Amino acid sequence: MSRRKVIAGNWKMNNNPEQTKTLINEIAPLVSGSKSDVIVCVPYVDLAAALETVKDTNIKVGAQNCSWAVSGAFTGEVSAPMLKSIGVEYVITGHSERRTYFGDTDVTVRDRTRAALDAGLKVILCVGEYLEQREQGVTAEVCAMQTKIALQGVAAEELKNIIIAYEPVWAIGTGKTATAEQADEVCAIIRATVCGLYGEAAADDMIIQYGGSMNAGNAAELLSKPNVDGGLIGGASLKANDFAQIVKAADESL
Ligand code: 13P
Repeated sequence: MSRRKVIAGNWKMNNNPEQTKTLINEIAPLVSGSKSDVIVCVPYVDLAAALETVKDTNIKVGAQNCSWAVSGAFTGEVSAPMLKSIGVEYVITGHSERRTYFGDTDVTVRDRTRAALDAGLKVILCVGEYLEQREQGVTAEVCAMQTKIALQGVAAEELKNIIIAYEPVWAIGTGKTATAEQADEVCAIIRATVCGLYGEAAADDMIIQYGGSMNAGNAAELLSKPNVDGGLIGGASLKANDFAQIVKAADESL
């Protein structure tokens, strides 16, 4: 079974619209011939600039969160239909920084994912364990639980619009990467969870990324693993050359 590779940059809270244009213009020529899917997930205020700048490139644009509601009294939130209305294609749900700092729970992640699918967005759904949970030996249970809850109410035919990103929280922004074996092992557990819910064909088709200190130096090894279908990249996605190197590593792993 050969799956395509998907490399997504998660810019987090970095770059204004002007800087967004500059960075995308730097990245675009470096990834133009890529066989892998290339996505940049930018702050809300940069979405319009990003969408304008990616025209005539192979780069897709995503947001980093969306509301579970369509509209209403939710100060500070942005809804999935709003994102769709300006041409956004992807949205991240369940990032550990949303779970840790902004109170997202497995249930709100499920509801945000549902809202995104209902609006016609593609979702990058993040799951992953804290260091303490890894040390307690419950990584498999935590990742399976987060995956199962987030997918509640998602029909089999909607899975083509979901990418799952395994992001061990202890590896995010710490420079501590999971080994390729650890990444592959947990991505396989997530795939087995999808298999349990939807069957083998769905599990075989599911794109499962690894995220957490992936960089130009370690990407090739991580992406060579059979269950690692791409990367969700934070810090290294803010440097055009580094990000392009990761995309190249993805292409070479195909
Ligand atoms: P870093 O690549 O900076 O560790 O961030 C990973 C991440 O959280 C991507 O969503």
